[in-house]
Amino acid sequence: MARILVIHGPNLHLLGTREPEHYGRTTLEEINSRLETLASDLGVELEIHQKNGEGEIVTLLSDKTGSVDAVLINPAAYTHTSVAIRDALKASGLPAVEVHLSNIHEREEFRKHSYTSAVCKGQISGFGPESYLLGLRAAVSLVSS
Ligand code: DQA
Repeated sequence: MARILVIHGPNLHLLGTREPEHYGRTTLEEINSRLETLASDLGVELEIHQKNGEGEIVTLLSDKTGSVDAVLINPAAYTHTSVAIRDALKASGLPAVEVHLSNIHEREEFRKHSYTSAVCKGQISGFGPESYLLGLRAAVSLVSS
């Protein structure tokens, strides 16, 4: 059974109460539960982590490289700053899908650039929690193609 590594970046543990005008009221726990339900429908296994530290995400990607088939990642603020996470994604050689709850292209200028999207197969942005579900479908299509 294919395994997908799901990585939620910094501050996403606060979903539900954090800036609901941008991120809605759905908690991370609810998103993870919806992901697990979809994963079981699609016949894949998930390994889900939320990390606030950039280095923790780099280490996670390196540690899991041999044991997962694809990555679904919301790098959160590190999207716009992290060459280290970009390099770790690239080094893993894993197909990755970048997701964002909000539409990063309609917000502040600094959010419009993603360091990580160029080393992902694609980016899904702006659909709230549904971005993760669309992203999971995309990741599964990458491992089954
Ligand atoms: C985010 C968008 C980022 O710009 C922001 O820093 C986040 C969340 C999103 O899911 O919309 O923390 O990745």
